[in-house]
Amino acid sequence: MSSEYLPGLAGVPATKSNISSIDGEKGILAYRGYDIKELAEKSTFEETVLLLLDGELPSQGVLDDFDSQLRGERRLKYKIRSIMKNLPTSGHPMEMLQTSVASLGMFYGGEEVLSDGICGNDLDYIHSMSVKIISRMATIVAMWEHVRNGYDPIEPRDDLSHAANFLYMLNGKEPEPLATKIMDACLVLHAEHTINASTFAAMVCSSTLASPFLVIAAAIGTLAGPLHGGANQRVVEMLRDIGKPENAKDWLDNQLAKDKVVWGMGHREYKTKDPRATVLQKLMVEWGESQGNLSREFETALILEEACEERLGPKGVYPNVDYYSGILYTEMGIAPDQFTPIFAISRVAGWLAHWREQLSDNRIFRPTQIYTGEGVRGYTDMAQR
Ligand code: COA
Repeated sequence: MSSEYLPGLAGVPATKSNISSIDGEKGILAYRGYDIKELAEKSTFEETVLLLLDGELPSQGVLDDFDSQLRGERRLKYKIRSIMKNLPTSGHPMEMLQTSVASLGMFYGGEEVLSDGICGNDLDYIHSMSVKIISRMATIVAMWEHVRNGYDPIEPRDDLSHAANFLYMLNGKEPEPLATKIMDACLVLHAEHTINASTFAAMVCSSTLASPFLVIAAAIGTLAGPLHGGANQRVVEMLRDIGKPENAKDWLDNQLAKDKVVWGMGHREYKTKDPRATVLQKLMVEWGESQGNLSREFETALILEEACEERLGPKGVYPNVDYYSGILYTEMGIAPDQFTPIFAISRVAGWLAHWREQLSDNRIFRPTQIYTGEGVRGYTDMAQR
């Protein structure tokens, strides 16, 4: 067995999976073999979730049934609302989300199935937990927008799709069809991405047979960092800092001279432009045209991308999914600190698919280390230190 240490486990296979695949040279991401570009155009989030969880595109009947289960699980118990109401509004929404999702487990239980050790075969349990978590996470994120501003949250509606209900609860008014279409496509695009950091965290936690609420809470914490899902918020801050398209080149020179990263650029897996960034860029144009203008941030992003291609392209560093998603959400009127929670309400589908896959053939994760510390030595008494 090789004991070579590879920082960041780069290129080290940590599992076998049939959920999604990436061709980093050609810029292709596929869920269960279906190209993400086609799914973003033709599928819905509800259908994509079933594809990820069950492995195949569902029949109309199965999809309708799943859709109505999701609609039926949108409401939150008032005690969870009370927890949310008591959280400081200055905290990051990802901290609120992690806390609230972890607390869901105290209300919905189910650990006994896991500790029986037969959980991997109990598809009803896995399915019902998946529905509860996916449906309620969107509710939690939308509710927080009102709770943190001192208002009562807006009740979910069961006559709207997952994306439309989320926007309705977030903004308090029924979204335009284009806004729903764009949010739905964003949820499809972010739903799964092989064994990234948060998915790996979910798998490690799953392998201990922790409850699915704790598995998802572990993944939420991991997604929060700026090197992972937190980058979309930084992109918008960066573009505002640049100010206008004409400043982009000088800003980049300065940034690279100081050895600093360009947010939303680069990816361990892609050596070309992330296919999700390409779709998001098109959606951004569609949205801008519907509003009658393209934002200054978007124009700055286009010029910065050109400049980066020249400077960072030779290193295989191109826009990733976060480069355009934040600008798009900003244009749709969403607060920057809600971008990563929106990423999470989509990625939860992939996390749960990996939870299910992990349970189907589980062995606890327990890697090894290369010890670089002292040899075993005698205790030093206080007087001798
Ligand atoms: N800005 C500037 N340079 C970058 C860069 C970026 N965003 N991303 C990578 N590079 C450079 C590195 O400095 C390194 O250069 P070197 O070979 O001269 O030292 C080279 O490209 C390889 O990058 P490396 O850091 O080894 O890649 P990684 O696979 O370890 O890291 C990321 C991947 C995503 C963490 C990294 O690209 C990054 O920090 N990006 C910005 C954060 C971000 O957008 N994250 C969201 C990911 S979806």
